[in-house]
Amino acid sequence: MTHRILVIPGDGIGAEVMPHVLRVLDTLDLDLSFESGELGGVAIDRFGTPLPTPTLEAARASDAVLLGAVGGPKWDGLPMEHRPEKGLLGLRAGLDAFANLRPAMLFAPLADASSLRPELVAGLDMLIVRELTGGIYFGEPRGVEDDNGRRRGFNTDVYTEDEIERIARVAFDLAGKRAARLTSVDKANVLEVTQLWRTVVTEVHADFPNIELDHLYVDNAAMQLVRAPKQFDVIVTGNLFGDILSDAAAMLTGSLGMLPSASLNAKGQGIYEPVHGSAPDIAGRNVANPLATILSAAMMLRYSLGEADAADRVEAAVNTVLEDGIRTADIMPAEGADGVRKVGTEAMADAVIGAL
Ligand code: IPM
Ligand code: MG
Repeated sequence: MTHRILVIPGDGIGAEVMPHVLRVLDTLDLDLSFESGELGGVAIDRFGTPLPTPTLEAARASDAVLLGAVGGPKWDGLPMEHRPEKGLLGLRAGLDAFANLRPAMLFAPLADASSLRPELVAGLDMLIVRELTGGIYFGEPRGVEDDNGRRRGFNTDVYTEDEIERIARVAFDLAGKRAARLTSVDKANVLEVTQLWRTVVTEVHADFPNIELDHLYVDNAAMQLVRAPKQFDVIVTGNLFGDILSDAAAMLTGSLGMLPSASLNAKGQGIYEPVHGSAPDIAGRNVANPLATILSAAMMLRYSLGEADAADRVEAAVNTVLEDGIRTADIMPAEGADGVRKVGTEAMADAVIGAL
């Protein structure tokens, strides 16, 4: 069976890295068909909108979307509705990709690249499950309005019971395939919407008696993440807290340049993208780390295409390359280490292909 993939390179290092990731996929000898779509800044430039209708239609018709990154200073001045990020949010919402899986695992050879002491992060393997199509990102009303000649800005954090229940089920399921521990993160001491979050997660727990559940307030969770990150197995949280905590968790592993993500809907279709953004400051210089997007492609093989063996091969190849001391700039050890060689984007992808 042919797997249909919509490839969206996007902006900045997203567009720069994507051709190399496709080269990696090509070496796998799978039956993959690629179509390409535009999103973000490039789409604004060409079509006047960050999410052209053909892109969304192609995404709906595909088995999976492989996405680079969107955004850049060129479009930062645009009104909110026309910014590149709106294209990304529209794609997530348009596919109903509510379950965002952000694993933070430390490849052993990178223990020295973390900003935490190696013993705090060695063996780290956690998964953040972020609700992606609700909460304050999408809540209404929202805006900036005039208030007697002074401006007033507002957003709404809102979750329905159904939205909380479906993301909780995904998280409990995933915890069951791992170490069977789930931490739900909220701010139930202040926000009603997250009191409901805590209540519903606790109710869903009744269907998953083998999973150990605990609850943390988000401020405490942020502190625990940098104090003792290995205490976590799976974290489930809402859209905004998940955005913030996943950047912090990513950095524990040495670099944002290493972290993949999957955003799944109920049909198993997914958007696969690195956690890092478009990094306009380094784009076009052949220095970006392609591993986060390569690992996102591996997640795509596993979660949407049913090609778990191929996913294992890609992840093993990445590990081999790191063991061989091959590093992009972002994962170079602070103090020069023996047997480590700094390479650019293209050579890093070549190394993965070599290992495959
Ligand atoms: C992410 C990004 C996006 C988000 C931005 C680019 C809209 O930070 O995927 O974490 O906030 O969801
Ligand atoms: Mg983010």
